[in-house]
Amino acid sequence: MTDNVIFTVQPGGRLTGEARVPGDKSISHRSIMLGSLAEGVTEVSGFLEGEDALATLQAFRDMGVRIDGPENGQVTIHGVGLHGLQPPKGPLYVGNSGTSMRLLAGLLAGQAFDTHLTGDASLSGRPMRRVTDPLAQMGAIIGTTENGTAPLDICGDQPLHGIDYEMPVASAQVKSCLLLAGLYAKGRTCVTEPAPTRDHTERMLAGFGYPVERHGATACVTGGGRLTATAVEVPADISSAAFFLVGASISEGSDLTLRHVGVNPTRIGVINILRAMGADLTLSNEREVGGEPVADIRVRAARLKGIRIDEAQVPLAIDEFPALFVAAACAEGETVLTGARELRVKESDRIQAMADGLQTLGIDARPTEDGIVIQGRGGEAAPLGSGRVDSHGDHRIAMAFAMAGLRASGPIVIDDCANVNTSFPDFVGLARQCGLDIES
Ligand code: S3P
Repeated sequence: MTDNVIFTVQPGGRLTGEARVPGDKSISHRSIMLGSLAEGVTEVSGFLEGEDALATLQAFRDMGVRIDGPENGQVTIHGVGLHGLQPPKGPLYVGNSGTSMRLLAGLLAGQAFDTHLTGDASLSGRPMRRVTDPLAQMGAIIGTTENGTAPLDICGDQPLHGIDYEMPVASAQVKSCLLLAGLYAKGRTCVTEPAPTRDHTERMLAGFGYPVERHGATACVTGGGRLTATAVEVPADISSAAFFLVGASISEGSDLTLRHVGVNPTRIGVINILRAMGADLTLSNEREVGGEPVADIRVRAARLKGIRIDEAQVPLAIDEFPALFVAAACAEGETVLTGARELRVKESDRIQAMADGLQTLGIDARPTEDGIVIQGRGGEAAPLGSGRVDSHGDHRIAMAFAMAGLRASGPIVIDDCANVNTSFPDFVGLARQCGLDIES
């Protein structure tokens, strides 16, 4: 049981200056996975030294891969090739990390040895059939609990064959899981998504020299190829930048520049939604590093207005809704989100957790089955009240309510914040440096 880490935020302030948030979590996970399975030595820079990505790193160490670092974001992976992993001595424990568990499930289904994948209480409550069902269609044998949750028992030495899979939910984790299993399958594995989701796996596979066919909503790999080591430069995580984009947008006098942020088109829903609300965001210095677009983002305070959020933006902003709900509370008028049922099965039920916390702070926030309706109070100097809110051990809920302090009438105390370290080590230090009055 982790200690109850509490954030206390004093009201007011603004965000100014320049900052670089930590490395992208999704890309950091994938760099360890593909680097380990490649032939040769992969050098990673900008790696996220947060608990989730470190859980993936440890899992590969447990399977015999030599990995040096991380040190200041530098990691050196001595790849063992697609068939070079060794059986781990015990269960692979991946903590709070859904990405580790779901992507590893695909990759481990193709190994010659059995594995047992476990996680913390939150991860052990999250749905895994979305990966184990299609993997079973490929020939994998994976045990779950009766509820379809972790721990996962993955049987080794099962011949896999390619499938054509239409995903019922727009999930990059499911897509990536199946493409990774596809590396070990006989024939071609194709995954079709109902809406665009982050495509880091496809881009990085190509960067490691593995052909990926992409036609519209479908991505395919053919088993039996090889990965060749390469250099990976991880951009700053737009999902971590999102808290600062919202914080600066809602607090008068803010003018903040976030450096080297990943702006992959499958991740920029937060930019599109904030702009639709009237935010003042400027991208500059746009360039591509290692197959991923990056930019500097300048954000200045603006009067936000409530909107009806375009459902097409939902998968492109899936991790940014806790922060966006705080923006909605500080906007003028009503914001309506629909088509976002997935938020209920993230690290917490993010619809309920945010609605509860916003209500504690005096906001009319009404959860619906697949979204939320928020009555913004942007006309008022302090749209948010003060009080004690529960993050439910969810890193993004904790950071979203931290930014709420910028427009609160009194202190906000946030419980259960230890998991901020899963994605954003030293969030408190960076937020303080930019002007948020926060202590932990
Ligand atoms: C991720 C995909 C998303 C996202 C998660 C990271 C990934 O999950 O919420 O934080 O790295 O592929 P889903 O695929 O379940 O939507």
